[in-house]
Amino acid sequence: MANLVLVTGASSGIGEAAARLYGEGGAKVLLLARNRERLDRVAGAIREGGGKAAAYSVDLADAAAIEETSARILREHGTPDILINNAGAGRWKSLLDTTAEEALAMIEVPYLAAFNLTRAFLPGMIARKGGAIACITSPASYLVWPKATAYIAARHAMAGFAEALRADLKGTGVTVTLVVLGTVETPYWEHNPGSRENMPAPNPLLAPTLSSEEAARVIRDALERGRRTVFKPAILRALVLLNAVAPRLVAKQLRRALPKPSTARGD
Ligand SMILES: NC(=O)c1ccc[n+]([C@@H]2O[C@H](COP(=O)([O-])OP(=O)(O)OC[C@H]3O[C@@H](n4cnc5c(N)ncnc54)[C@H](OP(=O)(O)O)[C@@H]3O)[C@@H](O)[C@H]2O)c1
Repeated sequence: MANLVLVTGASSGIGEAAARLYGEGGAKVLLLARNRERLDRVAGAIREGGGKAAAYSVDLADAAAIEETSARILREHGTPDILINNAGAGRWKSLLDTTAEEALAMIEVPYLAAFNLTRAFLPGMIARKGGAIACITSPASYLVWPKATAYIAARHAMAGFAEALRADLKGTGVTVTLVVLGTVETPYWEHNPGSRENMPAPNPLLAPTLSSEEAARVIRDALERGRRTVFKPAILRALVLLNAVAPRLVAKQLRRALPKPSTARGD
């Protein structure tokens, strides 16, 4: 069992559920996000349940703040056994509707946040020849649909990062797991207004919506098994494979699945 687990984006949604799950399982959990109050609430709940948790309020878009916080974590707790790069946000808009600042923000978190945080803890993992890194992402890491240009580009960066890092780390004892999740019912949809309106509506029978607790279990199980890339729901893997050989067909299906403006689900 992992003793020390670091979860980014632990103040809400999937990250919160993952932090609670590992806390219940007996690990010491390090929770990172910006919102101090929400982090303290989650860490407090883990401790009340008999677990161990410490919260670090940090803006993961700020490379200097990551360096400072990770140095503090190394001093106070040492190198995590598991690093879950989960923090993220996104504005689902066409290129012309996206400002340069918004495009940069989507590259900063999750991709550069994962890069910088992993860079901080990797030397310790390599030195002890063990560690597991998870990157949480969406089907936008492999598929494309209209009106989410900067978001999709940033998520492709996340997949590229995870896959390239895995190649670098072969033989070191450190694993990299990419977890590709379909729709998860979390505050993400309130935190990122406009996303639902530009999201291809999945067939609920083939791709049921996950709860944040289900998503957390998918992450934990994938890490325990040392999986390379996990798709949940599993139909996403089939769609990504089909996209590799018939991209026009998949693009057409995804366009068809976009909500019509009159039926768009709003916040
Ligand atoms: N919900 C879905 O359907 C779904 C599906 C596939 C993948 N995902 C991905 O899963 C991850 C978690 O999503 P979620 O659904 O749990 O969303 P959420 O409820 O909005 O949680 C996002 C988390 O990221 C943190 N965060 C965002 N920007 C940050 C920053 N600059 N610095 C530090 N922390 C930051 C937020 O904390 P603070 O605001 O406190 O900083 C929050 O804890 C995201 O990367 C998302 O894209 C979500």
